[in-house]
Amino acid sequence: MRFIILNGSPKGDTGVTIQYVKFIQKHYPHHDYVYYNISSRIKTIESNSKLFHNILSDIKSSDGIIWATPVYTLFVPAQYMKFIELIHERNEGHCFKGKYATVISTSIHFYDHTAHRYMNAVCDDLDMNYIDYFSAGMDDILNNTGRTRLRTFAENFLNSVKKKVKPQKRYKPVKENNFRFIPGDAIDKINGRDKKIIIVTDTKNHNSNIARMIKRFSESFSGSVDLLNLWDVTIKGGCTGCLKCGYDNSCMYKDSFSDFYRSKVLPADIVVFATELSHRNVSSKFKEFFDRRFFMNHAPDMRGKQIAFLVSGPTSQMPYMYDFFEGSIEWQNGNLSGIVRDDTGDSDDINRNIQHLAESAVIFSTAGYCRPQTFLGVGGAKIFRDDVWGKLRFVFHADYKYYKKNKLFDFPHNKYQSRVFNSIIRLLTKSPRFRHKFYEKIKTEQSKSHRKIMKKY
Ligand SMILES: Cc1cc2nc3c(=O)[nH]c(=O)nc-3n(C[C@H](O)[C@H](O)[C@H](O)COP(=O)(O)O)c2cc1C
Repeated sequence: MRFIILNGSPKGDTGVTIQYVKFIQKHYPHHDYVYYNISSRIKTIESNSKLFHNILSDIKSSDGIIWATPVYTLFVPAQYMKFIELIHERNEGHCFKGKYATVISTSIHFYDHTAHRYMNAVCDDLDMNYIDYFSAGMDDILNNTGRTRLRTFAENFLNSVKKKVKPQKRYKPVKENNFRFIPGDAIDKINGRDKKIIIVTDTKNHNSNIARMIKRFSESFSGSVDLLNLWDVTIKGGCTGCLKCGYDNSCMYKDSFSDFYRSKVLPADIVVFATELSHRNVSSKFKEFFDRRFFMNHAPDMRGKQIAFLVSGPTSQMPYMYDFFEGSIEWQNGNLSGIVRDDTGDSDDINRNIQHLAESAVIFSTAGYCRPQTFLGVGGAKIFRDDVWGKLRFVFHADYKYYKKNKLFDFPHNKYQSRVFNSIIRLLTKSPRFRHKFYEKIKTEQSKSHRKIMKKY
């Protein structure tokens, strides 16, 4: 059988993820494997139509596609998303129809599930036979268990192609609607109380719903709101994954992005991201912003800010997008003031919600409010804490300093009082008499301190 490997790593052949595919090739050598470095060559692929069509004709004549990609900022690299956009914009989706597909990623398991759900949706839209995904930790292949798992996964994929299994689709085709949002007058102007409010957008179309939502949001305030369009910033390309920023947060690109981020985004109190969804995600341009923000590494630089999203497009048909909106803010201890979408198809509803969002953002910002993190934030922050302290420390010097200075290494094993307490109780509970009484009382004792607080405040 013949497989086309679409490599999503901006590092090309030297990436980690592609080694997983090479390993499969080594163990299943009786097939043809054709490799294309998509992300590292995206500019050439975009401008060189011969190369683009060579890739497509290889895909057409293949039995299956292996999408092999690193997880970048909760999804896949912006350059890979650009390739997916090109397929649709140039109406070449038919080349993928009926082909078998699988997705292999490597990451540190921070929102790898969102990346895989997105890629599953991409394959379903292209009418491919999506078999399975393999989300490896970066270094899994270095141990026996990791290699055994990879072989079992590969075998299952190859057998599925051979047997021509017909998998069920997880995502139904997106239903677009041509709803046109009519912005109402913002009569009750909000006093922004000297808050620095910015809107970051990627829209080029002044007559789009998202442009009108931006206008309506800006007009909610009596004072000024800064509109920052990513197309006005000189951004030479997507993150290349070189990791030079790990030392001191300086990006290897000599363009305007870092300055833009430091001087416009970081000083803001309220940041509104306004975007139109395209092909199952935000646009590759918008994603480039989030990937390039990686020069700040794993420092939670949205901490204490109010963040909101204005989204045009069928958000509610892409459930994983909510994990992106919520998770990307929560792990940083920013507060998600709200998300307003136009897919309700009701202008009154959108006007009301934009006005409410504008009001809440100012109230929350003034109160310094940040809602408690859910699993999305708590879990995400713990992954970064552990890895910045542990296996990633040798690369991410700046992170390590930041985490130390801001007391983010809050491991349970640093809490000496609770360690002593636990050791004593564990010892005592070995006695059946103590254990019996202990577990009898725990129901009421657990809230004893809470009840005390209630009396006091
Ligand atoms: C810009 C950037 C963003 C990243 N975002 C994530 C992420 O959201 N979640 C995660 O688990 N790993 C993330 N990573 C780590 C990569 O997924 C990981 O290093 C991967 O193994 C790299 O694969 P490659 O060598 O094939 O490019 C990110 C790395 C970079 C450079």
